This record gives sequence, structure tokens and C-alpha cells, in this order.
Amino acid sequence: MRRLVIERIDPVLGRCRYVADVDDRRVAQPTLVARRGERFDGVIENALPQPTTVHFHGLTLAESQDGAGFDPIAPGGRRRVRFEVRNRSGLYWFHPHPHGLTGEQVYAGLAGLLVLVDEDDATLDAALALAPRNRLALALADVRVAQGLLRPYAPRPAECVHGWLGNRAMANGALDPLYRVAPGWVRLQLLNACNARGLLLAFREGDTQVPFHLVGTDGGLLGAPRELERVFLHPAERVDVVINASGRARLDAVSLEFDPRQRAGTAVPQPSHHARKRYAPLANEAVCEGPEARQADVVPPDGAELPLFSLQVEERRSAKAGGLPQRLSVLADAGEWSGQPVRRMRLDFSEQQGFLIDHTPYRADEIAFSVARDAREVWEIKNSPISTAHPMHLHGFGFRVLRRQGTFGPARALATESAGRLATDLGVKDTVTLWPNETVWLGVDFAMPEDPAFRGRQRYMFHCHNLEHEDGMMMRNFAVL
Ligand code: C2O
Ligand code: CU
Ligand code: CU
Repeated sequence: MRRLVIERIDPVLGRCRYVADVDDRRVAQPTLVARRGERFDGVIENALPQPTTVHFHGLTLAESQDGAGFDPIAPGGRRRVRFEVRNRSGLYWFHPHPHGLTGEQVYAGLAGLLVLVDEDDATLDAALALAPRNRLALALADVRVAQGLLRPYAPRPAECVHGWLGNRAMANGALDPLYRVAPGWVRLQLLNACNARGLLLAFREGDTQVPFHLVGTDGGLLGAPRELERVFLHPAERVDVVINASGRARLDAVSLEFDPRQRAGTAVPQPSHHARKRYAPLANEAVCEGPEARQADVVPPDGAELPLFSLQVEERRSAKAGGLPQRLSVLADAGEWSGQPVRRMRLDFSEQQGFLIDHTPYRADEIAFSVARDAREVWEIKNSPISTAHPMHLHGFGFRVLRRQGTFGPARALATESAGRLATDLGVKDTVTLWPNETVWLGVDFAMPEDPAFRGRQRYMFHCHNLEHEDGMMMRNFAVL
């Protein structure tokens, strides 16, 4: 990819898109594919009326390449970005990260997929005898639709605290997504690209739930597949699943109803962003202001059932359906972390300020703490009992989930693995969801690549990926020295 333009295509609805030059073609809303070890070299052009960045979520990048919002591209500006792709095969993604405007820009359509491939990935597809159309990478996002029209981003103050939800799901920007697949295995790499909605993914044939196999998470393939009936996928998390479509006519992917355990108060702090004061919204709508009441929109609450997408299985019999391998990659369990330094953080809710990390609202110029280069640390993160589920995301470094404690509600029933963990905790993660009252221990390896771009102090971010929580200051900077 040589050139990536970020543009607004509709000032009334505020819709935006990426346009990339890929192999001498201009592609709108591209899904980028890269091989591990490949170099990325392109120019990013910001044609939006707001500052923006392109953050490559999940990739191990130096501060200058990460697009994390320390140095946004001004409206009309451009930036050259060059880096090597070092991560394991899996589904990664790119999205804007200008502090205070992230939720609005992502909802406007700016969420692109990056599929990384390597040998393990190819081996799995070959074993499954995957028909080319049976491999899909999908960004699932809830959007607000009223009278058949997409509604622009217009959260009221309470939605700016708790999250902007939609009433319909889109996959890769399309409503009512339906994909034709051949009989045999189907491999789905799925991203929750919602601003705020948690999904409890399951598959149905008619009224019957159909089990599937989890083969990968945020940072690539598991060591071995796990058969599941349902899996939580919160904003920014990814799952790689395979499901057997043979002998079925149609499969519907849904988000099942669940108790979101929303326990935070109804108080409505007034978030104020300097970005909001300087730049007009993408659509002509009030953001984080105005009366709470809204007539036209009936939005299902977090945890309500929501249809996601469907697979239509073609009649034609496939010649051979492969087998699901019992070994997917060399990934082992998290290993030994006792004896590593423990860093503690708390997620809290304040009636005055909303959701915060360690009682401290985000400040762009602050460095909350520093980590030694190549250190291995255990992060102990505790969510308050009076809270909600927070998908916490670490930039730059994949991590392992070591242990969960204090899990209640719907996640508890899914904690089938050792140390109170969920099946998705067995993979490499860059985003981990903490339910109210939960404490989660993470093993983070701050190994820095041997690359001049990584020399000197490198700043990264740790934040909630509910984008309204993130814009609402639930974010901290830290440095690797
Ligand atoms: Cu997906 Cu800090 O971002
Ligand atoms: Cu990120
Ligand atoms: Cu949050």
C-alpha cells in the first residue's frame, strides 16, 4: 500500500472512508493483507475537516509509526509511515486515534482490517481444505438506523459517558450482511468494531445453536482449537473461528442476549475536550450536548440480542472437507510469571468525571509510569464492583492473560479454563475485557525490536476501547525507556 487517503464522503451524515492505492488500483475501504516480515511504506493523507491519525491496532510499532494520537495529522496534512510487520498471523485493524474525536471518526466508517498471514495460517487453511470464499474477515459494528437511513454520530451527554450504541449491525460497512459460502469449513476472522457494544457471538441454524471452534484471538492462532457454543467479543477484540457448513443450508451469526452488569450510576459528567471546541463535528449534529431525550431512535441496550450476519451455504457439494488440526501453532500456555514485578491499576467510576484509570483523567502530556526496555511485568488490573465491562487495550505489546478473580455474571459460566480464565484468554491478546468486580493478571513482555525506530524513549497508551470511555479520559500514557 503506497497511499491511504482519509476522506469525508457525506457532510450531512458525516460518513467517512479510507481510499488506498493497492497494486496500482484505488480501493475504497480496503482490507489490507500483509505477510509477516513485509514492509509497509505509504503516505497517509488527511482529507477530513478534523485532525486524525492511523493507528495500527495490535501491531508492535515504534511511537513514530503507531499513529496513537501523540502527533495527529492536521486537516489537509500528510504523513509518511514506514515499518516492518513483525506480528503473528491474525486479524489486526487500523483506525483513527485523535484524542476526543476517536469515537466519532470510527463510527463514521473509519475502521479498516489488516489480515496478517504466515506459514501457520496457510497450514490451517490447507488442512481445512478451505474454499477461497469460505474465508472471511469481518468488522462487525452496530450503527443507528432510523427510517432506513444511517444516523450520524450524535451522542447525548449520558451516551458520551456510557457509550454510543446502534440498533443494527453492519459487517464491513454493509447492512444485512449475507455471504455465500461453499459446504465444508468456513473460517471467520471477526473484529468487534462497535464503539461501545459488547457482543456474545453464537451461530444458529434455525432455532438450533451450532457449536464452532475457536482457533485464534487478537494476536494470532491458539496452540490448539477449543470447541465453543458462544464467545464474548467486546470492542476491539478479535476472534478467529471455524465452523462446519456441510449439511447446512444457512447459518446466522447473532449476538445473544446477556446481562451486561452495568452497575455504574446514572450521573452525567460533562466531558469537555479541547478538540471538540476547535473542530466542528463531521455531521451537523451536537456531540455530547443537548437534551437527553430523543424521539426517533429506539436503541436496544447493551446485552440485547442482535442479528450480526448470515452465511448462505450453496447446494454444490464440495469434493473434500478437510480436518481441523489439533495443533495450530507453537503457542504454549502463558508460562511462569511469578517473580516478575507487579504493576497495579484500578478502573473506577466517578460521579463527577465518569470512567477513569487510577482516578486520573487522561492528559496528553502526562506519562503515568515508565517500563524498562525488554522488561517482563505482571499487570494486576482491578475493576470496581460499581462499574461496567471495560475492554482494556494495550498499545504495542501483545500480552497473556494469567488469571481472573472475582468474575460474576455471564462471563463466569464461560470461565472454563484454569485460573478462572475464558477460552479466549488462552491466546495472545491486546485487548482484555474486565467485568465489574473482576481482577485480571496479565503477563506483558516489553521486548523491543532491534530496529533504529525503537531507539530512545517510546510512548504508548493503555486505555478502554469503549470509544466513549476512551474519549471520556479512560486512558493513560506510559513510556518504555
Ligand atoms: Cu484500537 Cu488505542 O486503539
Ligand atoms: Cu491499539
Ligand atoms: Cu470502559
